[in-house]
Amino acid sequence: MLIACEESQAVTIEMRKLGIEAYSCDIEPCSGGHPEWHIQGDALEQLDKGWDMMIAFPPCTHLAVSGARWFKEKQQDGRQQKGIEFFMEFANCKCEKVAIENPVSIMSTIWRKPDQIIQPWMFGHGEQKATCLWLKGLPELEPTNIVQGRDQAIWKMSPSPERAKLRSKTFPGIAKAFATQYTAFIRSKMTVTQWSNLVKGETMTDKKKRDGSDSLNELVSFPELTNGSCDGLGCGWHGFECWCDEWLESREEYQRQFKKPWGEDKKECKAWEDAWRFSWNRYAHPKEN
Ligand SMILES: C[S@@+](CC[C@H](N)C(=O)[O-])C[C@H]1O[C@@H](n2cnc3c(N)ncnc32)[C@H](O)[C@@H]1O
Repeated sequence: MLIACEESQAVTIEMRKLGIEAYSCDIEPCSGGHPEWHIQGDALEQLDKGWDMMIAFPPCTHLAVSGARWFKEKQQDGRQQKGIEFFMEFANCKCEKVAIENPVSIMSTIWRKPDQIIQPWMFGHGEQKATCLWLKGLPELEPTNIVQGRDQAIWKMSPSPERAKLRSKTFPGIAKAFATQYTAFIRSKMTVTQWSNLVKGETMTDKKKRDGSDSLNELVSFPELTNGSCDGLGCGWHGFECWCDEWLESREEYQRQFKKPWGEDKKECKAWEDAWRFSWNRYAHPKEN
């Protein structure tokens, strides 16, 4: 997964917490502390590299309506056109799942209206900053924690070289929502095997090294994913939750959950078993794999 124009690595880190192989890309070095997940360079060079999903934060300096008083100058010297063309590279790229983030900008008229406008106060930050999302193959974000404050703290910051950078960093609550909700969405569209391939690579040992945590549940239980449906997808997560118990228990859980005997639906059971085996191999016996 590519997180384009992201130097903070806010979304990249949240994606990694969920086991996704995400890379940030920015012309600037990363400030998130994980250069091993950062591609420093022009994001346009990454567009055709076969990413499963892309979230892009293209610069809004010459596009945001808050800077309208400089538009004439920027139109004349071509800066605005360059900004538009850069944005449209993401809009037109081949990747099937794309989210482009920008403030309220001329792109709504130049290209099309955004699919969604979100605010930091919908995601646990008492601040106001209308943020547009243009989506391809991805769902709208659900607010995770609507809070009272409607401050404009960042706009009130006194001018400094760091101000623009700080102003454009993704709010942690929004970064987390991108990661959990888009991950849940793509997970729901995949077979257990496709999902296993996407998240493979991180063992419990890796996780322990990364954040010192031992808790499997923390990593593998996403309540929003366990929707109780067994279409060969949702059940994978029940498989995960039963990872450390006997396989038998997992089967009993299946029977309790779906109110039918194990083995009746071969396809369903196969998916359940695959998920269980995958999680068992990956988390319980990382060294053996
Ligand atoms: C609006 S800011 C987005 C910051 C992002 N939300 C974050 O938390 O890091 C735009 C970013 O695009 C980067 N950028 C500009 N041109 C770029 C290019 N050609 N390729 C990759 N990144 C670029 C800038 O360095 C800047 O960090």
